[in-house]
Amino acid sequence: MSSPAQNASALTNYQVEIYLGGLSGKRPPLPTDLTRLRELARESLDPEAYVYVAGGAGTGATMRANREALDSWRIVPRMPREASTRQLARTVLDTDMPAPVLLAPVGVLSIVHPEGELAVAGAAAELGVPMVLSIASSYTMEEVAAVAPEVPRWFQLYWPNEDAVTISLLDRAKRAGYSTLVVAQDTWTHGYRPLDLDSAYLPFLRGVGTAIPFSDPEFRAGLAAAPEEDLLAAVGLWAGMFSGVAPRWDRLPLLREHWDGPIVLKGIQHPADALRAVETGIDGIVVSNHGGRQIDGAVGALDTLPGIVAAVDGRAAVLFDSGLRTGADVFKALALGADAVLLARPYVYGLGLAGQAGVRHVLRCVLTELDITLGLAGYADVAELTPDALVRASSMMP
Ligand code: GLV
Repeated sequence: MSSPAQNASALTNYQVEIYLGGLSGKRPPLPTDLTRLRELARESLDPEAYVYVAGGAGTGATMRANREALDSWRIVPRMPREASTRQLARTVLDTDMPAPVLLAPVGVLSIVHPEGELAVAGAAAELGVPMVLSIASSYTMEEVAAVAPEVPRWFQLYWPNEDAVTISLLDRAKRAGYSTLVVAQDTWTHGYRPLDLDSAYLPFLRGVGTAIPFSDPEFRAGLAAAPEEDLLAAVGLWAGMFSGVAPRWDRLPLLREHWDGPIVLKGIQHPADALRAVETGIDGIVVSNHGGRQIDGAVGALDTLPGIVAAVDGRAAVLFDSGLRTGADVFKALALGADAVLLARPYVYGLGLAGQAGVRHVLRCVLTELDITLGLAGYADVAELTPDALVRASSMMP
């Protein structure tokens, strides 16, 4: 495989490639303004699937707050500066990546495209971009690993309340080459999502997004009949095991005991929780409000980032997701102290609209825009970014 730095330049020359393609009549497969993908997905996806992906908690106020938080910061370019070649590659939690961008764990992807997580893994493998596989995947972790054997893969756990199942899942993930464990803290029960409620749609209850537990020997041991024979009973066991138990600090040693690599807590929004995570010896956190899907009326995720970065003070990796749509958004999160970001809905729309090629397109757009923005703002390396690269929009008001 090529090095992450080589991948970075292959990833970010998309603009040149598109313009040159235009000379022989070619056009990119999807719009390059990624904020247009949601509307296109609304027009072409199954309505329930579209709403499940695009929707959020309650009135959608947290999703809006995520965007407002991002929009409230403005980039302040510096010049003249030498930034004609850029360095995007980073190593985060022992994972070399061509740019500080990962594919976020998003489950049930087969509702938007039959190849689901396999197509995402295919795009990740093409570009060398790390992928975080959701435990709510439509395919097993072994099937996904087979598509992307070389690409860095992390595994995201919704924590079952049966320790034997947890241990079995961790063991499988290790054997299948997943290097970092991401433990979601914010989804121990499902958020109140009126758009899904109005169409009474929850894919898991139809057995979608359950491939990983349903293929697990410890999970299956708890069933009188296999999921293939009695789906309803299997879904019932799944629902009891994967919801209703909030993760607790005193359960974390179990994970340490059964996981050799870095452990990351996802869903942190308060500096005190970040501090507690650091004191507990956690390797990293993801500052996230689950894309506004869990609590309505919550703080915009980016607004919590600077306080958390200050509290953590370099003692753990700090990753960020929620609301990111473009390369300029990624620039802002990195400038405010994120070591890396996780991209979610944009690649899911890309997947729904054009399969693996759609995911690849989205990643190349984001990374190309990040690279160009970095250079035009006067930075030769993502590692140079600090809050100094930004100003609050409100501070520019007369
Ligand atoms: C599950 O994690 C969801 O947000 O739908």
